[in-house]
Amino acid sequence: MTTVDLSWRDSIAVLRLNRPDALNALNAQLIRDISDELDRIDASNARVLLITGAGSRAFCAGADIKELSALPLLDRKRTLEYGQKVFAKLDALRIPSIALINGYALGGGLELALACTFRLASRQAKLSFPEIKLGLIPGYGGTQRLPRLIGTRRALDMVMTGRTIDCDEALSFGLVDHVIEGDLLSAAIDYASKFCCYGLPALQLARETILRSQDVSLHEGMKIEADLASLAMATEDAAEGMRAFIEKRTPVFQDR
Ligand code: COA
Repeated sequence: MTTVDLSWRDSIAVLRLNRPDALNALNAQLIRDISDELDRIDASNARVLLITGAGSRAFCAGADIKELSALPLLDRKRTLEYGQKVFAKLDALRIPSIALINGYALGGGLELALACTFRLASRQAKLSFPEIKLGLIPGYGGTQRLPRLIGTRRALDMVMTGRTIDCDEALSFGLVDHVIEGDLLSAAIDYASKFCCYGLPALQLARETILRSQDVSLHEGMKIEADLASLAMATEDAAEGMRAFIEKRTPVFQDR
């Protein structure tokens, strides 16, 4: 039995973590299933990926503590490395990805959301890195992606206290992009549909330019921007976009 299900809303892929009885905790099979579905999505004509959690309580309550605690030490390291690899695959996807945080996003669950391009939260969202309470630290990229997103001081606070924050605090930290009052999935589809009419090369280059520049000096970052902006200008989509503006019509991008 698979622990995820994939459905489609036109060209929007909706990947649902489906272990509601365990609050969608990440066991080895769930991480493998996510990996397989990411391959399928990558090979499809999907233009946006939404990730959500089954049930009304959780996006994902983190690594499966019961499974993890039964593993020998070396297997624990392998498990972490494999999880990091799968989350890196998500991070490197050529289409935008959006985590729909409909309840608990804890530990590995929050790390999964951090590997997405965007995060939308419902009013019920509860976010934390509770690993410290178990004598652990985050191991699926949290110590790296969290400070890059919200800054070192806030990341230290979250990871070292293990405290839970609500959607408003997460929004004020920039940990989530929007808080949704009504139906999260409909709002996410609405949000995602914005990306569907843009060309994938420009979306990819915009993201790559911003993310690559995080690890370099301003001077180096400007060089990266000049290179990748020129690359964007050389695409057929850019020619079409500018031509459509001049001809006062909607552009038709071909992802070229
Ligand atoms: N790993 C394995 N099972 C988990 C889990 C996890 N991370 N999180 C929740 N579950 C399971 C519970 O064991 C329980 O299963 P059971 O019914 O077989 O006992 C079920 O999900 C429901 O959780 P429960 O704890 O009964 O719900 P609650 O409302 O009392 O508490 C939480 C909800 C999220 C606060 C609590 O489950 C929790 O603290 N989970 C662990 C979170 C965590 O530390 N994650 C980081 C792991 S490194």
